[in-house]
Amino acid sequence: MVAFAQISDIHIGGTPVSADRAAAVLRHVDSLGLDAILVTGDIADHALPEEYDTAAALMRVATPLIVCPGNHDSVPEFDKRIGPANQVLRLDEVTLALADSSVPGQAYGFLADQTLAWLDGVLAERPEVPAFVGLHHPPVPLGIPYVDEIGLREPERLAGLLARHPHVVAVLTGHAHTSAQTSFAGLPLVVAPGVVSTGLTSRETAEWIPIAYDLPPAFALHLFDGGNLVTHFRPIILK
Ligand SMILES: [Fe+2]
Repeated sequence: MVAFAQISDIHIGGTPVSADRAAAVLRHVDSLGLDAILVTGDIADHALPEEYDTAAALMRVATPLIVCPGNHDSVPEFDKRIGPANQVLRLDEVTLALADSSVPGQAYGFLADQTLAWLDGVLAERPEVPAFVGLHHPPVPLGIPYVDEIGLREPERLAGLLARHPHVVAVLTGHAHTSAQTSFAGLPLVVAPGVVSTGLTSRETAEWIPIAYDLPPAFALHLFDGGNLVTHFRPIILK
């Protein structure tokens, strides 16, 4: 059984509580003895060097950890202080690949040719080992208008790639600050909940409220036995 956590949207520097919430989640998931931790984007709220320094310190954990940028990030700064924008973790039982879907100056996402080429190459390395593909932007609408307008553009480019790699088990994203479960290209698509804030849909207005700090941060815990993927969504109770 492989067990790995997915946390998303820590937005360091975006609010006074971001670093504390991210620290609480990272400390907790690092204590679980998991095989890996994935962080699916929006690391530094303003893409400032000092925000990345804080994030890098928080992400210095014992568990193997990989991370990709989100729309709030800047790849040049990310590259300097966090690492490459595309990252892969090759475990015995699974390949975990995170791809950069950020577009400079834009909130929507897009997978550039070179990113797709990187992902294609990584997935081609070990076709016999199940793989998970992560990125920041969901490639399908979630029914949240604010988020759907800034989702992944031209998702068929990713779908075409996934069709060539039938060993991919699921696609994992962030960006919505709320957990969601759907499908994409015939695969499960799991959207991790947010750390810095948690989105709510107001019953009264059907408007999505992106900033709700009174709810706890949360993460996704993925369990994969080689056949089925089970995802648990877990809140962290802040002391
Ligand atoms: Fe975000």
